[in-house]
Amino acid sequence: TTKNILLLAGDGIGPEVMGEVKKILALIESKGLLSFQIDEDLVGGCAYDAHGVAISDAAVDKAQAADAVLLGAVGGPKWDGVPYEHRPEAGLLRLRKDLELFANLRPAICYPALADSSALKRELVDGLDIVIVRELTGGVYFGEPKEITDLPNGQKRAVDTQVYETYEIERIAKVAFELARVRGNRVTSAEKRNVMKSGLLWNQVVTATHKAGYEDVKLDHMLADALGMQLVRAPKQFDVIVTDNLFGDILSDVASMLTGSLGMLPSASLGAEDASGRRKALYEPVHGSAPDIAGKGVANPLAMIASLAMALKYSLGRPDLADQLDQAISATLADGYRTGDIWSDGFKKVGTAEMGEAVLKHFESL
Ligand code: NAI
Ligand code: MG
Repeated sequence: TTKNILLLAGDGIGPEVMGEVKKILALIESKGLLSFQIDEDLVGGCAYDAHGVAISDAAVDKAQAADAVLLGAVGGPKWDGVPYEHRPEAGLLRLRKDLELFANLRPAICYPALADSSALKRELVDGLDIVIVRELTGGVYFGEPKEITDLPNGQKRAVDTQVYETYEIERIAKVAFELARVRGNRVTSAEKRNVMKSGLLWNQVVTATHKAGYEDVKLDHMLADALGMQLVRAPKQFDVIVTDNLFGDILSDVASMLTGSLGMLPSASLGAEDASGRRKALYEPVHGSAPDIAGKGVANPLAMIASLAMALKYSLGRPDLADQLDQAISATLADGYRTGDIWSDGFKKVGTAEMGEAVLKHFESL
């Protein structure tokens, strides 16, 4: 079957790192491993320049229909003065909202060749491969009421409201269990049931969802604060961590520092399954458009390439190719190839294309 892929390269280094992904897609297709229908469109500042909006309706429609959307990065100083509703990030936010991408996946992978750059000792992180599944469209960032009011005594009162309904917890739990099945088959759910009603419901719904069809996956529950502690004490004990919007925001930033380089991190945002079992999905590097190095051919393409690996694993039905691509990244780093952001004395300094092609060569030979 042909897979429908939408490429939104975006601004700054987006098109440069996307260029390396296109070479890998072409190789996969030429070897007959998968067949693609690839479309491209604009998002961010480049879309504003072309259409006066950060993403066109036509591009959103293509994203709705795609098996996977791959996005480079958006933004840059060129668009600092554009009206707020048309700023580059608005394109990304509209995609997340219109596609209802409620599940944000942030892997923390520590490639052995970069383990000495981690915030932790090498032995704690060497070979680390975990994914944090963060609920992205609910919880305290969106719950009502959300306000600051004046009190009679002259002080102020701020209110944010944590709200979760059963269906929101159930659908994110299912994402986590399904991901675990193509990984290490273990899920750790984190909440604060000891002090929060929403934590209690989270725990109950995750437990019930597990019983109703996912009992082959090992499930543990951990209080979110204890999980934070375990994440820096012994991170390799985890496989998939599922948690709410607020805890997930914090824990995924903590986990990113275990990996050695922010510039290496991919991410996925997943939506609901449709009637045919297809899940809307957007894959993008965690980094931005890096205007300081854009156009120079020196950007690190590995976060973008690792985002393609996630798409192969979670949307394109080829976890085997995803593993091979991750192995190719690992082998390229082991060969000593380093772009400027991860370079240190004694390693080979390479540009975007050289790094991408080294990965391609390893991938081709696997
Ligand atoms: P940034 O991630 O673009 O850059 C931070 C630093 O890391 C820069 O020194 C940059 O050169 C370096 N860097 C980032 N990615 C790299 C790569 N692949 N290879 C080598 N070096 C890399 O974050 P910054 O500077 O805060 O934001 C720049 C622009 O990107 C802003 O307009 C911001 O709004 C936007 N942005 C977009 C995101 C997205 O598209 N999802 C996420 C974060 C920021
Ligand atoms: Mg954050």
